[in-house]
Amino acid sequence: MTVTHALEGGFGVLRRQDPELAGILDAERERQATTLQLIAAENFTSPAVLAALGSPLANKYAEGYPGARHHGGCETADAAERLAVERARALFGADHANVQAHSGSSAVLAAYAALLRPGDTVLALGLAHGGHLTHGSPANFSGRWFDFVGYGVDAETGHIDHDQVHALARAHRPKAIVCGSIAHPRHIDHAFFREVADEVGACLIADAAHPIGLVAGGAAPSPVPYADIVCATTHKVLRGPRGGMLLCGAELAERVDRAVFPFTQGGAQMHTVAAKAVAFGEAATPAFAAYAHQVVANARALAEALADEGLLVTTGGTDTHLITADPAPLGVEGREARGRLAAAGIVLDCCVLPHADDRGLRLGTAAVTTQGMGEREMVLIAGLLASVLRGGTEPARTRTDVHELTAAFPPYPG
Ligand SMILES: Cc1ncc(COP(=O)(O)O)c(C=O)c1O
Repeated sequence: MTVTHALEGGFGVLRRQDPELAGILDAERERQATTLQLIAAENFTSPAVLAALGSPLANKYAEGYPGARHHGGCETADAAERLAVERARALFGADHANVQAHSGSSAVLAAYAALLRPGDTVLALGLAHGGHLTHGSPANFSGRWFDFVGYGVDAETGHIDHDQVHALARAHRPKAIVCGSIAHPRHIDHAFFREVADEVGACLIADAAHPIGLVAGGAAPSPVPYADIVCATTHKVLRGPRGGMLLCGAELAERVDRAVFPFTQGGAQMHTVAAKAVAFGEAATPAFAAYAHQVVANARALAEALADEGLLVTTGGTDTHLITADPAPLGVEGREARGRLAAAGIVLDCCVLPHADDRGLRLGTAAVTTQGMGEREMVLIAGLLASVLRGGTEPARTRTDVHELTAAFPPYPG
């Protein structure tokens, strides 16, 4: 069956029954296929993952865990969850995996619930330096319920300031230290964080939402041997369904499971759990390892090409799928740049840049690499992007170039 057929099966029914909504989904499919997806947190899941998401497990209530559910009729739900758990454990070399977390934020919430009490002190990367909302934002449960202290990145190098982490840990004696970021482009030194956590008697939580897919493909170092709990999303480089998961040692398995259900969630979304199983299976293949390494090679090529075009690339490059850059030398700040690029069919995020007044840009190569693009296309993309930002090319002209490029690399060929 071709990919188009696999996707069309469900769409045909929808088009007949609800043309209004089907039209909206068709427009989204068209948008994804004809513009450049450079949002660092996005990817194109496989048709097999989409099929699992659209499967009858979407109908099933399954509170609890395999073999101990609060509902009847959970035999196949149990089988799907056991498969997802076993595949996650094998893929990441973890004693225990919980695959029920509804999202990355739910996974972080569960990690805090497993290890902390309200009012505890937590040391995490400050939000202005690349921390996530769940790392102490006052607008989020984390900032409301815990006492967060933020470490930062060095003003010169952009790398995490290890001396500051050490000093703050000694001064505040946090109950937990969080390592992980939404925007830091370099590998995290998990051994360093483990050492500091041990010195001050803290737990170590690795929020690996972004790099976990690279870890799966052997293209980034694993936090699993170092962290007490690893939280992650399944929908970024990992290329699974939107969702979260947690990995930990056997000694924390029960606490983590109880922190997810019943403490922070009700029934698991079993169709998503099944789709996670599919994604873990795909991520264990040599083809995925090659993909993960190509994602990094593409990000390095894109970072270099953006620097050649005059953008200021944070830390001077990247180790991962993610790049942040200041477009100020081209005469535009991040928010304005994002709007202009969107009009030209280049979709990316703007982000806070550490130690800067204006916003910058955040880009990632997970989606374009899934489409089959390589280093050559990254240089092309950097050229198109810089030309729009300099005001040298009309957005409509660039849109045509983007169309040509995406037509050669359709996300769902067939
Ligand atoms: C480091 C980090 N933690 C947590 C999350 C939250 O994930 P979600 O949006 O699935 O809640 C993200 C999302 O991008 C993230 O980058």
